Amino acid sequence: MKYNIAVIKGDGIGPEIIDEAVSVLRSAAIKFGRDFVFREAPAGGNAYDAYGTPIPKESMDICKASDAVLLGAVGGPKWNKAPVDKRPEAALFALRKELNLYANIRPAVIYPSLKKACPLKDEIIGDKLDLVIIRELTGGIYFGKRGRVAAAAGEAAYDTMFYSRFEIERIGRKAFELAMLRGKKLCSVDKANVLESSRLWRETMHSLSQEFPEVLYSELYVDNAAMQLVKNPRQFDVIVTENMFGDILSDEASMITGSIGMLPSASMGEGSFGLYEPIHGSAPDIAGKGIANPIAAILSGAMMLRYSFGLKDEADCIENAVSKALDSGFRTTDIAAEGEKSLGTHEMAGKIIDRI
Ligand code: IPM
Ligand code: MG
Repeated sequence: MKYNIAVIKGDGIGPEIIDEAVSVLRSAAIKFGRDFVFREAPAGGNAYDAYGTPIPKESMDICKASDAVLLGAVGGPKWNKAPVDKRPEAALFALRKELNLYANIRPAVIYPSLKKACPLKDEIIGDKLDLVIIRELTGGIYFGKRGRVAAAAGEAAYDTMFYSRFEIERIGRKAFELAMLRGKKLCSVDKANVLESSRLWRETMHSLSQEFPEVLYSELYVDNAAMQLVKNPRQFDVIVTENMFGDILSDEASMITGSIGMLPSASMGEGSFGLYEPIHGSAPDIAGKGIANPIAAILSGAMMLRYSFGLKDEADCIENAVSKALDSGFRTTDIAAEGEKSLGTHEMAGKIIDRI
């Protein structure tokens, strides 16, 4: 059986880290006798430069014809002045929307050997942090009506946060199902004391919770949730929230783990198709220097094997190889403690491949 993987390297450090993730996947394929077929699909700022659009139709077609997509990162200051619909981020939104990837799964896990990198005190973290944020990805203020208008006081602009009960229910269901597979705790985050879309969100989540009596269900306002994440992150197992709140909280959660360079993510719809990408961005400040941490991209590959292809042993093998490389003391600059030696992107991936 062939597994078709669309590869979007993207901008900034994207190509460097994705090359390494692909090498890791190739070595897992050899070890387990799997047939992974990689097809490159240009997207992002580089595609805009080359083809005048951040997501050429051929790239979208390659993604649609694949079993999963592996993406590095898109964007950079070079394209800040590009027209809104031509900005690199527009490629992400088109992919999310056209592939119906409404559920964004972002785990935040602390590796025992990297505990020193966590900015919170030891007594707050304890011996473990393992939570997942499920972010709604194809609705809300990211996709609502927006525009500029002439107002009495001069130019004005607006964005709209819009949610249907259907959209809330389908992401809610995914979140409850994931909670059932983990610690059976789900916290829904909204701003129901102010926003009407959040009141609908809360009503819908609340009635859905009746269908999952085994899940310990709770609700928090987003400002409180942001505070609780640093005050007592261990209270969380699964957090579900709307698009923009999820964007913000997932950056916060990832920082608690010490390095955003470590965390993968999955964006899924119905069925097994998914798009996998590191949580970090294109990091233009270090692009091309060969020092970016490839682990988030490598773990995104592992997540793809687990969620889209059901290849559990292969995914475990890659994740264990990452843990072993870290336990052996290998570090990239972003996760090296003071005085610790650090490896480049390619060398770090090599240490992981050695352990596959
Ligand atoms: C993310 C990113 C994107 C988002 C940006 C690059 C548009 O921050 O995936 O979290 O806001 O969704
Ligand atoms: Mg973000």
